[in-house]
Amino acid sequence: MADTPIRMNNPGAGPVAPSAEEQKKMEAAYSQMKRQMAISQMGKTIKHKIMVLSGKGGVGKSTVATGLALSLAQQGLKVGLLDIDITGPNVPKMMGLDGRRLNVEAGRIHPAQGHLGVKVISMAFLLEDEDSPVVWRGPIKLGAIQQFIGDVEWGQLDYLIIDFPPGTSDEPLTVAQSLPDIDGMVIVTTPQDVALLDSRKSITFANSLKVDVIGVVENMSGYTIRGKAAAGTDIQIAAPAGRTLQTTSDENGEWSITLDIFKSGGGERTAEEFGVPFLGKLPFDPGFVRGGDDGVHRIVSEPDGPSSVAFAHVVAEIQGRVESSDADSGLEII
Ligand SMILES: Nc1ncnc2c1ncn2[C@@H]1O[C@H](COP(=O)(O)OP(=O)(O)O)[C@@H](O)[C@H]1O
Ligand SMILES: [Mg+2]
Repeated sequence: MADTPIRMNNPGAGPVAPSAEEQKKMEAAYSQMKRQMAISQMGKTIKHKIMVLSGKGGVGKSTVATGLALSLAQQGLKVGLLDIDITGPNVPKMMGLDGRRLNVEAGRIHPAQGHLGVKVISMAFLLEDEDSPVVWRGPIKLGAIQQFIGDVEWGQLDYLIIDFPPGTSDEPLTVAQSLPDIDGMVIVTTPQDVALLDSRKSITFANSLKVDVIGVVENMSGYTIRGKAAAGTDIQIAAPAGRTLQTTSDENGEWSITLDIFKSGGGERTAEEFGVPFLGKLPFDPGFVRGGDDGVHRIVSEPDGPSSVAFAHVVAEIQGRVESSDADSGLEII
């Protein structure tokens, strides 16, 4: 009796069993609601959310995003790295997670553990194989991004770093609209004028998204040559454009000279021009290229090396800016 289907044309006979289509719609609405709740929860469980952008590709944005995550993790902080660059997803490689696939349990996506315990989610985890590019239709891609934000089991994090495709695409817009309490964006540039021009576009873009610009980082800024000689030796290096660079070795006989291969200081000028902070310079370091190829990021292979130190400076600048607002919120102060 209870199993007898109840029809609409029999009003007053009790509830109507939903059709398969209605059932599907209800399930979709329910998972959308669950996702919305999870996303609003992220405002509390993830203390700081930072977007990393650049005006153009190849300036080292993914290298910098990964480096920032690792440098924060070096301090013992809990860090997540979300890579939504489907066009050139090389974050997994740099984090030693090449070939990983998405881990889904009970409808929740679980991040992979990269170097130094950084939790990583990458669009690359969805690829069938590395060589076939995924062609996403706009709405599907944006739906996938929302899912990547709402359905991932990040747990408690101090920082979530988000890497994007280059330029002013839809992805940052979707993230800015979906994710609550974004601290701001870090803009990566190289010192050449063309890259700088593009980073200016990124700053205007940030303003249009109503996301704060935390600051500008100048990547591939200078190449440092190091050597050893007797203490107090004068060292001279012939640099391009007929210049000579000079230094003197220290009491241990160690010396270093930085060559500005692509000019220098452009990032600083751009930051000044737009009234946004300059966060520092990261050197040109062939170790980053090797790290990208063999899956060991420079920060992991040389934790106290000059590039790690440079990253730590940039990270300290970022922390100074985003964590000062923690103190400002002053909830405990009566
Ligand atoms: N500071 C650096 N020194 C040397 N090579 C670098 C540096 N930053 C990035 N690279 C190299 O430049 C290439 C592009 O970097 P990537 O991070 O993928 O750029 P993007 O994400 O902006 O496209 C990679 O081969 C990477 O190893
Ligand atoms: Mg990239």
